[in-house]
Amino acid sequence: MLKAGIIGLGVGERHIAGYQQSGRAEVVALCDIDPAKAQMAREKYPGMTFYGQADELLRHPGLDVVSIASFDQDHYDQLRLAYDLNLHVFVEKPLCQFDWQLRELEKLRAAKPGLKMSSNLILRRAPRFIDLKTRIARGELGTLYHAEADYVYGRLHKITAGWRAESPFYSVIQGGGVHVIDLLMWLTGETPVDAVAIGNRISSAGTAFRHPDMVAALLRFPSGMTAKVSANFGSVYPHFHKLQLYGTGATFENGPETGLLWTSRDPDMKPLALTGAYPGAAKGDMIPAFIAAILDGAAMDVSAEDVFTGMRACLAVDKALAEGRFVRLDEI
Ligand SMILES: NC(=O)c1ccc[n+]([C@@H]2O[C@H](COP(=O)([O-])OP(=O)(O)OC[C@H]3O[C@@H](n4cnc5c(N)ncnc54)[C@H](O)[C@@H]3O)[C@@H](O)[C@H]2O)c1
Repeated sequence: MLKAGIIGLGVGERHIAGYQQSGRAEVVALCDIDPAKAQMAREKYPGMTFYGQADELLRHPGLDVVSIASFDQDHYDQLRLAYDLNLHVFVEKPLCQFDWQLRELEKLRAAKPGLKMSSNLILRRAPRFIDLKTRIARGELGTLYHAEADYVYGRLHKITAGWRAESPFYSVIQGGGVHVIDLLMWLTGETPVDAVAIGNRISSAGTAFRHPDMVAALLRFPSGMTAKVSANFGSVYPHFHKLQLYGTGATFENGPETGLLWTSRDPDMKPLALTGAYPGAAKGDMIPAFIAAILDGAAMDVSAEDVFTGMRACLAVDKALAEGRFVRLDEI
């Protein structure tokens, strides 16, 4: 049994079920800086050691693996220490916040190739998107030439108060856009070459949130495929991942009830309904495969390489937004 620890008991609390489901890892330690969470954890999980500081949890005797589910701005320091202490890491998105941090983490990763690292890019587990990926691989969509992928957040209150409002830096592309950027890369097998972006902060104007709450980016892919990706945190629309994927043979559209696959230009032809569940996955669902990767070398849902590439794409979009120009991923 691997010994696991979890830092941050918001979404991190939901990682516990993932470790338990693996049957090969035991959560031995929890950490949160919030005293209310400390009390909750001590009552609800009496068998686990509780720490108020992340560095203490990371040094828990015999720890093998850690989930980092703290505030975005703390991921980098905690990842660094986890690498120093030879821990496998399952990190919530985003991996980090700035390009210099990505470069430092790349060095640490290269120095410790035996350590596994993955991230909770959970859309890859949605049965509807798995079905779509299978159909793309079978050629049902023909050659892909354009995508529109929108992370529609639907929870404005989560950025106008709390840590996202108080953080010196917060990126809606890193916080939400990363999910649909990763989804596009995973579905198409392509990595964007460059990006340009615009944004605004109309929805959160007059609140404590100081960063763009709406960012729209155009991405170009090596095949020539184009994409429009957005992170829309002010939406008066429930949380949703809009996706339209255009191929020469068919077009996929994600709807709240079903996915639709349009295989004809004839307005009288009905699309095929893709009824696989969406989102259809719990936040801890990728952890058993992560544990199997550590113990058996099995494939993970999201490779470390993919985590770094997705982060690089997000950083390129943020840089494009800040500088008002196309930014190549290899500039990051
Ligand atoms: N994969 C997903 O779909 C998904 C969903 C939600 C959140 N997240 C990510 O998870 C992270 C946490 O977000 P959340 O929604 O759970 O926030 P949250 O505010 O609900 O919970 C975060 C918890 O972590 C604790 N915490 C923060 N920094 C800490 C630190 N340095 N040491 C110890 N404890 C710390 C806080 O006290 C809080 O209890 C963020 O990075 C967020 O982007 C990912």
